[in-house]
Amino acid sequence: MSILPREKILILDFGSQYTQLIARRIRELHVFSEIVPFSISVAEIIARKPSGIILSGGPASVYEKDAPLCDKELFSLSVPVLGICYGMQLMAHTLGGLVAKSTRREYGRATLRVKCNTKLFDGLSEIPVWMSHGDRIEKLPDEFEAIAVTDHSVAAVIRDRQRPFYGLQFHPEVSHTPDGTRILKNFIYSICSCKPTWDMGLFLKEAEQGIREQIGEGSAIAAISGGVDSTVAAVLVQRVIGKRLLCVFVDNGLLRKNEVQMVLDALHSLGLNVKFVDAGVDFVSKLKQIQDDEAKRKIIGQAFIALFEREAHAAKGISYLVQGTVYPDLIESGFQNGLSAKIKTHHNVGGLPEKMNLSLVEPLRLLFKDEVRKLGAELKIPDAILGRHPFPGPGLAIRILGEVTKERLDRLREVDAIVEEEIRAAMLYDSVWQAFAVDLSVKSVGVMGDERTYDSVMAVRAVTSVDGMTADWAKIPHTVLESISTRITNEVFGVNRVVYDISSKPPSTIEWG
Ligand code: XMP
Repeated sequence: MSILPREKILILDFGSQYTQLIARRIRELHVFSEIVPFSISVAEIIARKPSGIILSGGPASVYEKDAPLCDKELFSLSVPVLGICYGMQLMAHTLGGLVAKSTRREYGRATLRVKCNTKLFDGLSEIPVWMSHGDRIEKLPDEFEAIAVTDHSVAAVIRDRQRPFYGLQFHPEVSHTPDGTRILKNFIYSICSCKPTWDMGLFLKEAEQGIREQIGEGSAIAAISGGVDSTVAAVLVQRVIGKRLLCVFVDNGLLRKNEVQMVLDALHSLGLNVKFVDAGVDFVSKLKQIQDDEAKRKIIGQAFIALFEREAHAAKGISYLVQGTVYPDLIESGFQNGLSAKIKTHHNVGGLPEKMNLSLVEPLRLLFKDEVRKLGAELKIPDAILGRHPFPGPGLAIRILGEVTKERLDRLREVDAIVEEEIRAAMLYDSVWQAFAVDLSVKSVGVMGDERTYDSVMAVRAVTSVDGMTADWAKIPHTVLESISTRITNEVFGVNRVVYDISSKPPSTIEWG
């Protein structure tokens, strides 16, 4: 689906943990940015007509045997290039310089001293920057010069004397480089001549155009979970094709307490053409004796797709499936390139059977989660829906470690509802990214009355995050945790212990499964 804005910055991903952050920073400057695999061909780059190219950082060393390289032709396109960390070393290496292992690693804060004024620094002379590298440039390519230094890097910033090629040894995208956004802004506005025109209004117009081109007079079916992503995707597609969009909302038996009614009410209030399918028994029976979370994801994903294919077939004449896949889903599913390790299979990507009879429409696939919310606001979707915490496609199945049964689901629903009620009562719902309960499938000894008990342990997880890619555990006041714990052990039969998860992502993930 071609919904790419005209002006864009391409980011070649060499595997840095910060690649997505670069993309977000640029979008915040109202210029569209797209992350592409480092191995992209020059023909594909030309087809995308970028106004500028950024070579991201990455964990490799350019002199290693299997180091990820870019096509040298990229430097003959008359397009400005900014190399960051590994990207800068790669630029130097590719254009005839020499990169070698540094005798000392430079990691953390450093002071950058700019030696000459350039469009890139635009008056900045001495600034704190964030370094993270173990290699250094021993010899610059002939046409290059160093224009800024730190105590440990004589070539902390380099540039080509003629062409608009720049390299930064530090990371401008991280908050530890306070002037980093200004440097990126100078690159995209002054050097790449981009105008700050990209916003959700423009995205909306282009997305509508893309949907019109892709679906034409056809009909589509949307997989609706009632979450932010699928709801926004459906409302967006409905704007273009109206009642030719059939929204199927499935109760897979893995939803939260009272969720079915709440979602149905919300979808009707949005004027969507909704069909409700009660498939709880079917989904839960498929999960019998399945312990592994990845296996659960695959089973649920396949069951979803099979169900949608059946529904589409029954409705007749439907050839498109709308999904609310967002950018991090694609990247975390290892779709983007061979470098980022596959962390979890998100059901809307990884579970797709090889041969599906419906073409995918994914109008949000280029957006980050917070951008989806902005788009939802543009589409006048009520805050009550947009503000809902994200909920994984495989639902409570990945919040029960080990086998999923109806009894365990019902119990977790009660526990989870208490967590949500208490978080809402403490007015914390909107300030945390997610708050939920997890059934650890662990039993522990307790005492109730004068009786020894041997009952289940539930974990409470609450995190703060900007986009779900990284997260910190939420510092929920002890009094709130206390009422959550007391209510759970008092009100839910079979639970005698509650623990609070104090892990950030990384090294943990938000969900347990
Ligand atoms: P993790 O656990 O990977 O979660 O740190 C990041 C965000 O993604 C959600 N999540 C999922 N969403 N299908 C989904 O649609 C999935 O399989 C899935 N797994 C995790 C999670 O709730 C969090 O917001």
